[in-house]
Amino acid sequence: MDGLITLGIESSCDETSAAVVRNGRELLSNVIASSLELHKAYGGVVPELASRKHLEFIVPVIDKALKDAKVSLEDVDVIGVTFGPGLVGGLLVGLMAAKGLAYAAGKPLVGVHHLEGHISANFLESPDLEPPFITLVASGGHSHIVLVEDYGKYKILGRTRDDAAGEAYDKISRALGLGYPGGPAIDKAAKNGDPSYAVFPKTRFRSSYDFSFSGIKTAVLNHLNSLKMAGASVPVNDICASFQEAVCGILCENTFKAARDFGMKTVVLAGGVAANSRLREMFEQAAAKYGMRLEKPSRVLCTDNGAMIASAAYFAYKKGRISDMTLNAEASWSLEDM
Ligand code: KG4
Ligand code: ZN
Repeated sequence: MDGLITLGIESSCDETSAAVVRNGRELLSNVIASSLELHKAYGGVVPELASRKHLEFIVPVIDKALKDAKVSLEDVDVIGVTFGPGLVGGLLVGLMAAKGLAYAAGKPLVGVHHLEGHISANFLESPDLEPPFITLVASGGHSHIVLVEDYGKYKILGRTRDDAAGEAYDKISRALGLGYPGGPAIDKAAKNGDPSYAVFPKTRFRSSYDFSFSGIKTAVLNHLNSLKMAGASVPVNDICASFQEAVCGILCENTFKAARDFGMKTVVLAGGVAANSRLREMFEQAAAKYGMRLEKPSRVLCTDNGAMIASAAYFAYKKGRISDMTLNAEASWSLEDM
């Protein structure tokens, strides 16, 4: 098969995924198996349960990814795998599979940082997207504003000082009885709510692009408590819409401020929270206002998937970044250390 073929493997949270990509940009297959249903009863991902499901899913998922792409292991040029950050038990399952295949088939192995994967999802759908650009990576574990200076070269300009944006969604959703994961549930409820019902405070830091979501979260929880104490009914949709307005508002404000300060013409969305409809709308409006180009992955490529890892592995390999068999799972690892 023509071009450079990468197989990408992702298992850092509750999705077991494998995908095949040509030349870092052309998606040939993307197979995702999730253990989400199992975790719902616990209100969040239970690492041990997730690891067991990864073990069960990993081989069939890789098999299907190769089959869907109509390639054999022999056709694969590079094997990319998420090594961190994430849940170590899950990461180890993906790593064992990737190392085993790389060793048996004699293929180069590339360890991919989960967040560079999220960012790279954009290369799959925007064929002419090239660094430099500013990106917001917002997921269940991170909320970073990153300056992508070149392929594989990242500078973190801002980060959350407490909860990640997705984590705030998940916690408020639980308090409202909307279940896990909170992002899609709040996104849906907010569509029927009034965003001006309440003004929850956005936290801003002087001379910093950092975020803090604990103030918004506490304000919502206090509001809920006062409604309950007064025996009043809870306007769930309105609270969701007002909460979302505050969270997405500050994500958008800080990202575009960074883009303007650094003279960037392109802004890119990434991570699970990038699937949010209000966030996408706010980013579109801000990009139009400032005359910037906006790129955002389709929703399936916002949340965890193997395709983004296969794309990131291609660009890393092109830069000569190859891992050896000592590549290990890392629960936390800075993007700047790639
Ligand atoms: O990137 P991801 O799939 O996994 C991590 O790397 O964490 O992100 C999952 C997070 C969860 O917190 C989930 O609630 C959030 O992304 N999320 C959303 C939406 N879809 C997923 N948050 C807001 N709106 C959504 N539509
Ligand atoms: Zn993720």
